[in-house]
Amino acid sequence: MSAQLCWKIDGNGAVGGRITVPGDKSISHRSLLFSALADGSSRIVGLSRGEDCVATANALRRLGVSISDVGEQTVVRGCGIKGLTSNGHVELDCGNSGTTMRLMLGVLAGQPGVVATLTGDESLSRRPMGRVVEPLSRMGAHVRALGPSQRPPVEIRGAALHGAEHWTDVASAQVKSALLLAGLLADGRTSVCEPSQSRDHTERMLQSRGVVVHRDGRKVSVAGGQSILPQDIAIPGDLSAASFFWVLGAILSDSGVYVNNVGINPTRTGIVDVLATTGAAVEISDVITEGGEPAAVIGVRRSHLSAFEIGGVLVPRLVDEIPVLSVLATQATGETVIRDAAELRVKESDRISAIYEMLVRMGASVSEEEAGLRIVGPCVLKGTEIDSHGDHRIAMAGAVAALAASGTTLIRNVECVDTSFPGFLQCLRSVAPGARIDSFWG
Ligand code: S3P
Repeated sequence: MSAQLCWKIDGNGAVGGRITVPGDKSISHRSLLFSALADGSSRIVGLSRGEDCVATANALRRLGVSISDVGEQTVVRGCGIKGLTSNGHVELDCGNSGTTMRLMLGVLAGQPGVVATLTGDESLSRRPMGRVVEPLSRMGAHVRALGPSQRPPVEIRGAALHGAEHWTDVASAQVKSALLLAGLLADGRTSVCEPSQSRDHTERMLQSRGVVVHRDGRKVSVAGGQSILPQDIAIPGDLSAASFFWVLGAILSDSGVYVNNVGINPTRTGIVDVLATTGAAVEISDVITEGGEPAAVIGVRRSHLSAFEIGGVLVPRLVDEIPVLSVLATQATGETVIRDAAELRVKESDRISAIYEMLVRMGASVSEEEAGLRIVGPCVLKGTEIDSHGDHRIAMAGAVAALAASGTTLIRNVECVDTSFPGFLQCLRSVAPGARIDSFWG
């Protein structure tokens, strides 16, 4: 076995402080894509430097878009809505990023002359692409998943698209966004009706760039042939990155963590609602709106915690936070029930089984169900050896559990954290000065 990056964590006492987290990953991907398709230059401040967003930037560069280095301020020179070029058949490496692959498929489906094969790492190569490939095909796209059961790589050839009405089986912002973007490149109208509402960054951000997007309940539609305006935008901090620190503030005695300027789009704030219902003290201040997206300072402090339920329409509003909310559940009194979350099985890892394995190893009372988990708390977590399964959110949830546990926890396979949160460990050390946190290859 080749060497893996590992963390050795020994929690000791309270956490506290005020941190800034990386730019929101979902908004960063979309800022890059929409700026690339705009008529003119856009300036983006606070873009995520995570590997997922770098994959989107690099793919766009290979398609002829000029993007200055991904840093504090990024300038993207838009090519216009149908202006991407491929100079022959290009391979676009999407790395670990499902958002890059799925949104890019929507964008490329209607680019005349572009021919590309989209590839990904081992984890992305296991993720389902039929959910995008099939509806895009119904719009006239020339797209084919080459792996078994419609898994990547995916080959795509720009074609003339026609609008269509889509009803999706799962609430997925990646699928919805791919279809709406293809809809902008198609003749006529395209609509997407979801079983429950997924995050609406695409709709808000396109509207703030002059695109008319119509919403009627769970159905969103766009007319083809619209152009996208360039825009200067500041990206708020990533609520999903902040959530690890809020849960630390909630579960450790005498603790509290404040996160600056974090996105509070209501389609993402399920975790804030759960923290409040479970009894944590949540403070929200300094609310602003930028590029159609609201942001605020949010602090979470320790209080008595009660078990909670997650299911139904709440699931898409906190889908990425379920790993860390499961850690919270181990410290809450009563039985927490997480259901309707089968989507977790097709994320960067099978998160239901990865969470189950991690919590059982740490001594929690947890049971695994087809579409969720049951966790009985409170319990004393014990330090042990755990594996991230190459999934950034499992690794970071593991670090939160480790700080709450007695003894030492070794978390293996944590390189993946750089996909969304480079600098996570420094942030963790800054809020937990009493803890021993080492990082090494082993
Ligand atoms: C994302 C949507 C979600 C989420 C992912 C980012 C996005 O995935 O889990 O981390 O930026 O659109 P699904 O749309 O597949 O639920």
